[in-house]
Amino acid sequence: MEKRVISTDVMEEDYKIENSLRPRLLCDYIGQTKAKENLKIFIEAAKAREEALDHVLLYGPPGLGKTTLAGIIANEMGVNLKITSGPAIEKPGEIASILNNLQEGDLLFVDEIHRLNRQVEEVLYPAMEDYVIDIVIGKGASARSIRLDLPRFTLVGATTRAGMLTAPLRDRFGVVNKLEFYTVEELTTIVRRSASVFQVEIDDKGALEIARRSRGTPRLANRLLKRVRDFAQVKYDGRITLEVANFALDLLEVDKFGLDNTDREILMTMIEKFAGGPVGLDTLAASIGEDSGTIEDVYEPYLIQNGFIARTPRGRVVTERTYGHLGLEINK
Ligand code: ADE
Repeated sequence: MEKRVISTDVMEEDYKIENSLRPRLLCDYIGQTKAKENLKIFIEAAKAREEALDHVLLYGPPGLGKTTLAGIIANEMGVNLKITSGPAIEKPGEIASILNNLQEGDLLFVDEIHRLNRQVEEVLYPAMEDYVIDIVIGKGASARSIRLDLPRFTLVGATTRAGMLTAPLRDRFGVVNKLEFYTVEELTTIVRRSASVFQVEIDDKGALEIARRSRGTPRLANRLLKRVRDFAQVKYDGRITLEVANFALDLLEVDKFGLDNTDREILMTMIEKFAGGPVGLDTLAASIGEDSGTIEDVYEPYLIQNGFIARTPRGRVVTERTYGHLGLEINK
């Protein structure tokens, strides 16, 4: 059981790799102004009352900083951070054990919380609401339930799809924040900050180019920065300039809008096989061999926000902008 109760081994390792790039304080966290301002007040109020912060739900596309924010909240509150994820917890006993091992004030981060199964979720309801869990001891006629008190803790749940949370779970979060895609300016600042952590020299135009091609997503910006740094080191003099960024990003097949091969395949398929749409998500997913959830969570939000795809009651359609971007004639 221990292996999968709380996948801290794997997740904290992952967390460590990215850790040097993650800001530790709210004031160092760039972007997400609304979420940040809200959290700042709730954290200050909870600290002044010496209480645990109310449970927080963070939702939005992957890579926008949900884990980072959870880390910052724990840090600002001065409490421990425990990390797990929806799919890692399979049985009610596992979540009960995680909860029972928390210390007063601890922050439990549950990534992909929409993937918790129903029985596990049901353990969370009284835990979140009244800081208790009910444990059944024994079997059959002799089975009885005992109630265990838990320390006051904060659950921070993260999901790419708030709509997939059950109503009882969603209702138990006192604070709900939607994370938005970052602006190019915000991403430029993040790229510059990360470059200084890596101690790599980068000029304004180089940083801007990486930011522009990062799909509004810091995780991607940092990933692209690392790859561009490799090119700068091996093919150039180590400095990241516009020329180096363009060279590397073109080779990585990330285009001027940050679209990658899968984005382009989605758009091309819509045009070539479905005459630009409307096409249903499942049909589209099947025809490019991608999971429909991945298209919906990972690819589509950016394509929609940037006007490459529109959602209609009859399905998804590509826009004029898509034809222009792919250098195609509208041929309907
Ligand atoms: N690194 C990744 N995301 C960040 C953010 N939102 N602010 C500052 N640095 C970051």
